Amino acid sequence: MNDLDATSPAPQGAPSVRKNFPDGFIWGSATSSFQIEGATGEDGRAPSIWDTFCAEPGRILDGSNGDMACDHYNRFKEDVALIKSLGFDAYRFSIAWPRVIPTGTGAVNEAGLNFYEQLVDELLANDITPLPTLYHWDLPQVLEDAGGWVNRDTALAFADYAAVVVERLGDRVQTWTTLNEPFVSANHGYVTGEHAPGHTSMAEGFAASHHLLLAHGLAGRRIRELAPDARLAIVINFTPIEPATTSNADVVAAYHQNNLENRWYADPIAGLGYPIDTARYHRWEQDEVRPGDMETIAIPIDLLGINFYTRSIVQAEGDYELPEGTPQNTMGWEIHPPSLGELLRGLHERYDFPSMLITENGAPMPDRIRKDGRIEDDDRLDYIRQHLAQVHGAIEAGCPIEGYLVWSLFDNFEWAWGYGPRFGIVEVDFETQERTPKKSAEWFSATADANGFDLPDPTRWAPTED
Ligand code: FCB
Repeated sequence: MNDLDATSPAPQGAPSVRKNFPDGFIWGSATSSFQIEGATGEDGRAPSIWDTFCAEPGRILDGSNGDMACDHYNRFKEDVALIKSLGFDAYRFSIAWPRVIPTGTGAVNEAGLNFYEQLVDELLANDITPLPTLYHWDLPQVLEDAGGWVNRDTALAFADYAAVVVERLGDRVQTWTTLNEPFVSANHGYVTGEHAPGHTSMAEGFAASHHLLLAHGLAGRRIRELAPDARLAIVINFTPIEPATTSNADVVAAYHQNNLENRWYADPIAGLGYPIDTARYHRWEQDEVRPGDMETIAIPIDLLGINFYTRSIVQAEGDYELPEGTPQNTMGWEIHPPSLGELLRGLHERYDFPSMLITENGAPMPDRIRKDGRIEDDDRLDYIRQHLAQVHGAIEAGCPIEGYLVWSLFDNFEWAWGYGPRFGIVEVDFETQERTPKKSAEWFSATADANGFDLPDPTRWAPTED
């Protein structure tokens, strides 16, 4: 029963409009291994760069780690039952390399691989499409000790690891995603140091970016050989960039930032090479690029996974501060739904990939828990609804978008922020591990069931002027 419309605030302004999605549109949710699994020392898993990073004082805002997280490793059956009860079509999760090959290369840890096999089987038994990502940032520490993504060998090791997983699960998984957000792996991990392994070197960042893309291409080739009928995908995060002013300096800064954040990965995959003027601007000599690499990277993909949260306003000097009153989430990210619509139309026009899937979109909000335990997260519900309206608009404009996965199924370990930001549509009590679907989960579940929703006040987010 869905009584949510009755409890939602009365819409202001224009009357609501029905948004129905195409038949077969995929509704689901996403998570990642390190953020939810816990059990970091169980069944032969070796440390990842995130275990090491969490143990370094000052790296994680609340001093926490992934040791317990949502204890999903031990509770996956009840978690799949929860997904089933919400009626979702698909579940995106990631496979932890340090569980499957704890030494990075070489011997396979059967217990680790078995866990993912059981998870996939449980999902399939419940009619939920498994959407695994092979790498969501938890690199085996032993590989970081040998240089991590700055070392070309890591790309080769990734392809071997991918082959191990695909050999085992290739008969059951139809879509293989290589990497999650290579921009964040390279930039936050090696340039700004906000993420593991916490390095701060532009040169390392460029080397890492190339080796991540190479890893995608080499693994893609193995996936094609081992599972010729499967689809090949990569998940890239996009943050539309706007200059703060029309000054030359701001426009130039925004231009290069856009190339780094939004084109650095998709362009080479589409066969367009690296944005060359930005490579020159940052004096990257491309020493890591060997003959044949760009062809390997440009292996055709079947699906682009798109992660979208916010846009970014860039100025040449200093960080731009959002004016007071700008809608934002609890991490200070601007809420600007029209940027998603523009992004989707722009990606389709520039790359024309065969299909696109929203693999992450969502928001941390200040959840209020009522006395009866109900969480009235109208702000998150509205965030999702407004972004879905943009997806709907992009589909109407001809973009081949096959589905939408909300980030995240659960409140979880939000990297350098620890457990503070709550992204879940399902609340997790980290003391008791109790899961409680929030109002947004009920709304999203009803929307998935109906394959559409009513958008109140459809004129609220007018298209941007530019
Ligand atoms: C993305 C990550 C995901 C989550 C969200 C909030 O960059 O892929 O793991 O942390 O941001």
